Order: sequence, then structure tokens, then C-alpha cells
Amino acid sequence: MNALARLAAAAALAFTAAANAATAGWPLQDADTDVGNLASLQRGARNFVNYCLGCHSLQYMRYSQIAEDLALTEDQLRANLMFTGMRIYDPMLSALSAEQGRSWFGNAPPDLSLITRSRGPDYVFTFLGSFYEDPMRPAGVNNAVLPGTAMLHVLAPLQGLQRPRFETIAVEGGKEIQHLVGLEPGNLPGDLPEAAFDSFVRDTVAFLEYVAEPHRARREALGVWVILFLLMFTAFAWFLYKEYWKDVK
Ligand code: HEC
Repeated sequence: MNALARLAAAAALAFTAAANAATAGWPLQDADTDVGNLASLQRGARNFVNYCLGCHSLQYMRYSQIAEDLALTEDQLRANLMFTGMRIYDPMLSALSAEQGRSWFGNAPPDLSLITRSRGPDYVFTFLGSFYEDPMRPAGVNNAVLPGTAMLHVLAPLQGLQRPRFETIAVEGGKEIQHLVGLEPGNLPGDLPEAAFDSFVRDTVAFLEYVAEPHRARREALGVWVILFLLMFTAFAWFLYKEYWKDVK
């Protein structure tokens, strides 16, 4: 094999290794959300405001829109979802700036308006439930779905701190690596039993799915009008054409 061929083979190998690392990720759980369930979306909105909005914005969503879509009165909206000083037509912006996010966590918390569309509800559901104890990490936790993540385990008071289960596998050259195979309850329990924690996360993810949806719903509604307009315009043009040619013939 000449040098070039060897280089190409090495590159191909590296590429497959990287592809495998990306696809052989942590298995995602089924989020099993129901965006048609208003009560679930209302609980999810409250969860989001209490546990996520401190760091993450929903820049395309206004409080007023939530009240309208989730059947909340202005009083309910103010009492449950808004902090003092906010106006109902304000977008749901976090008080944390991207700058602060980067300097405090090493990475800015992304806007979550479209996260369930870019990553999928199952991903967000599994991510939120897969934090585990890791003394090697600066904040003492790691995540099975997004290893080395800058996000903290903000739901630890509810879920507790899970313990990782590793399997030792032998790799080339007589070395061994620790491979994460499972998560189990640790010594520090949370306030919610497992099923209640799962429904807490399910409601939160359902709310994020709703947040990612209204834009599509609005676009689709607009699409219908565009098509109706085109149909009417075609009919109009056709009648005009008939009218003009009537006299010519
Ligand atoms: C203390 C600040 C903080 C809070 C509170 C917080 N997050 Fe995060 N989150 C982050 C940071 C920082 C990142 C960026 C992580 C990274 O890039 O590794 C992040 C990333 C994410 C991601 C993207 C993961 C990916 O694959 O890129 C999702 C989804 C997410 N957070 C959901 C949530 C939800 C839902 C809540 C509320 C239950 C929440 N976060 C609360 C700081 C926070």
C-alpha cells in the first residue's frame, strides 16, 4: 500500500469510528407525550417557568399566546407563570444573558423554542432523566445522553442523584475502558418517586413540543389562504380571458 492509500484507509477508519460513536449513543426512551392534553401542557408550562426559564429562553413564545392556547385567564397567567414586572405581550426571555451563561457554565444555554423539532421529544425526555453522579466533572454530574454537558442537574431535588453502572471492556493493546451501561438510584433520593418524576418530565417536554408547534400551525393556516387566493385568481383570469375573446370571435 502506498502512503496515500494508507492515509485514505486511516481516514475511512477514523470516519467510521466517529460515526459509530455518534450512533451508538445512549438508547432514547419514548417520551409518550400528548400535546392534545391541555392539563399536561399547563403543568409543563409551570414546570418550565420554575425549573428552566432561569437559564433558557423561548424567544418565539409570548406569555399572552400561552394564555390563549392553554386556556388560562390573565389572572391565572400572572399568578402561575409570570414574575413581577413582566408584561403579557413579552416574549419568554430568560434573565440570563448568553454572555453570563458562557462564563458561568462554559456554554450558553440554548433557546429551547425549537428544541423538540431539532432533537425530538424522546431525546429531550431521555436527556433530562439521564444525569448521574460523576466526581470527575466540575459540578459533580454527567449525562448519559450528552456526555460532558455544561448543563447542571437542575432536577436533582426531584429525581435525586443517580449512580452509574459501568462495564469494563477490553480494547486493543491490552487496555480496558469503562463503558456506561446503566443508571440506578443513588444514595441521595429526590422528592418524587420514579413514575411521578417521569410524568413531570413528560409534561415539560409536551409543553416544549407545543411551543415548537404553533409556528407550523400558523404557517399551515397561511398556506391554505395562499392556495385559495391562487384558485380565485385563476378563476378570475379565466373569466377575463373569455370576456376579452368574446368580442374578437
Ligand atoms: C442553571 C442553568 C440551566 C437550567 C436551569 C436548565 N438548563 Fe438546560 N442547559 C443549560 C446549559 C448551560 C446547556 C448547554 C449544555 C451544553 O452545551 O453542554 C443546556 C442545554 C440544554 C438542552 C440541549 C441539550 C443538547 O443536546 O444540546 C436541553 C434540551 C435543555 N438544556 C433542557 C432544559 C430543560 C427542559 C430545563 C428545565 C427542566 C433546563 N434545561 C434547565 C443550563 C441550564
